[in-house]
Amino acid sequence: MDDIQAIKHKISTTEDDNFIQKRRKTMTEADKFLEHENELNKIQKIYKDLIPKVPESNEKCTITFQDGKKVDLPILLGTMGPPMIDIRNLYSKSGFFTFDPGFSNTGSCVSQITYIDGEKGELLYRGYKIQEVAEHCDFLECCYLLLYGELPSFEDKKKFEESVKDQMIVHEKLISFYKGFQSGAHPMAILVGVIGALSSFMYDGLDIEDPVQRELSAIKLVAKMPMIAAISFRTAMGLPIIYPRRDLTFTENFLYMMFADPMDKDWQVDELLADVLDKILILHADHEQNASTATVRIAGSSLANPFACIAAGIASLWGPMHGGANEAVLNMLDEIKVKENIPNTINLIKDKKFRLMGFGHRVYKNFDPRAGIMRTLCYRVLNHLGTDNDPFLELSVELEKYALEDKYFLDRKLYPNVDYYSGIVLKAIGIPNNMFTVIFALARSIGWITQWREMISEKSIKIGRPRQLFVGHKERNFIHIKDRKDNFKEVTSSSKNSKGKKGFTIYNP
Ligand code: CMC
Repeated sequence: MDDIQAIKHKISTTEDDNFIQKRRKTMTEADKFLEHENELNKIQKIYKDLIPKVPESNEKCTITFQDGKKVDLPILLGTMGPPMIDIRNLYSKSGFFTFDPGFSNTGSCVSQITYIDGEKGELLYRGYKIQEVAEHCDFLECCYLLLYGELPSFEDKKKFEESVKDQMIVHEKLISFYKGFQSGAHPMAILVGVIGALSSFMYDGLDIEDPVQRELSAIKLVAKMPMIAAISFRTAMGLPIIYPRRDLTFTENFLYMMFADPMDKDWQVDELLADVLDKILILHADHEQNASTATVRIAGSSLANPFACIAAGIASLWGPMHGGANEAVLNMLDEIKVKENIPNTINLIKDKKFRLMGFGHRVYKNFDPRAGIMRTLCYRVLNHLGTDNDPFLELSVELEKYALEDKYFLDRKLYPNVDYYSGIVLKAIGIPNNMFTVIFALARSIGWITQWREMISEKSIKIGRPRQLFVGHKERNFIHIKDRKDNFKEVTSSSKNSKGKKGFTIYNP
């Protein structure tokens, strides 16, 4: 498609939105009601099996306190995974809370989306092994599976792809948001802001009680993510924005919007790289109750709108202990530089000076199945590009070997996780380091919105509100300001500015 066609296509798709708006205005209230009821019926049929319920309990356990008091607590059995003690009534029955920072032992929801067996190193999406989903599906098929619970037929897949394509272009006004960011801003900083701002573009409504609007929010989020992510990159680089094309797949569109040269009408997406990136998206699509997903659920438990919740999830993902690890792995390899520095690095890690990025996982105490697939993808890309002697790859293979033979890592069951190789593959594809976590977010948006929707579909949402073990002051007498001592005497700044002169200093915003 040439530029003019692209612009026409953009206008026609933006007009779609305007058309819907105009049509809505001319529709009678009765028409609107009927249209909504039709949609609702369709959605309710699809979703009726997707609302998880807390299972009935037939077993119990008894806690005996030091004073001899006994409290019976129900035991809950899921379809897989360790049984759980239901402590919802523990406080009312015993006067005790439980203490579990990081929720290492605490289930916060019932879910039927994704299951991890950390001991075996297995990951299932709606019951299907990640290896099989990654091998046989494309990303949108995987999105369909997560969102609707079943693999799509040819016809369903086509319809879903079309509904996603219909929503890929973002509103022009959203694009003006990007102008407000500092040049050189981290694309994740931009992403957090822009996704939050999407809430203000939902003319079809943000009524989370309405399944029809929830469905539309899910499609819009997944569909707009590639363009939003690509613009974060292109505006930071001062490059013109490129609009998606209907003839390209979801992932091809993302690569096209990232890298196409508007001057080159023959610019083509490299099919192998698009296929590999598509698989990378599948590997990151969902991962049950990780930090960012739990953040989305907690934000959503206050009944906040989905885009605000996803923005919260993106903020959580950004950290190097979570999705930011892929960028951190490359920074770490950059610092290690050569194989000869590996033993010293490992010693520093064992001395707790820093962590081996891309290693370890809260749930996997065995190989992360995604890491194995990622490693294969890494070789595929480097072979294809003829760069299989990539120094980063050699260094990472050596580092992995070294760590996996070391008692420190073996004792703690620390194995490579998905982020260990993903940075190398993404770098080889041409994605800049600071976009790695953005790609993770792009992929995870389907997981977040599916988990959010699952939670909202349950009728009994409980606002997330943990307890604390308070170790601060007990109640004490208030001190009037004239009687207070100067707590920060040593560090109190003088009235002089930093150069020692009195007078105004320039405020640095
Ligand atoms: N390097 C060195 N030591 C480690 C590492 C590591 N990567 N991970 C854990 N440990 C040690 C930790 O110091 C502790 O040792 P000790 O028992 O002597 O105090 C022990 O292993 C247990 O660690 P933990 O912090 O209690 O484990 P956790 O389950 O809370 O942490 C983790 C999980 C992923 C945050 C952690 O393994 C880590 O920081 N890894 C590096 C960052 C990383 O790769 N993150 C990506 C995670 S996978 C992608 C995603 O889902 O986001």
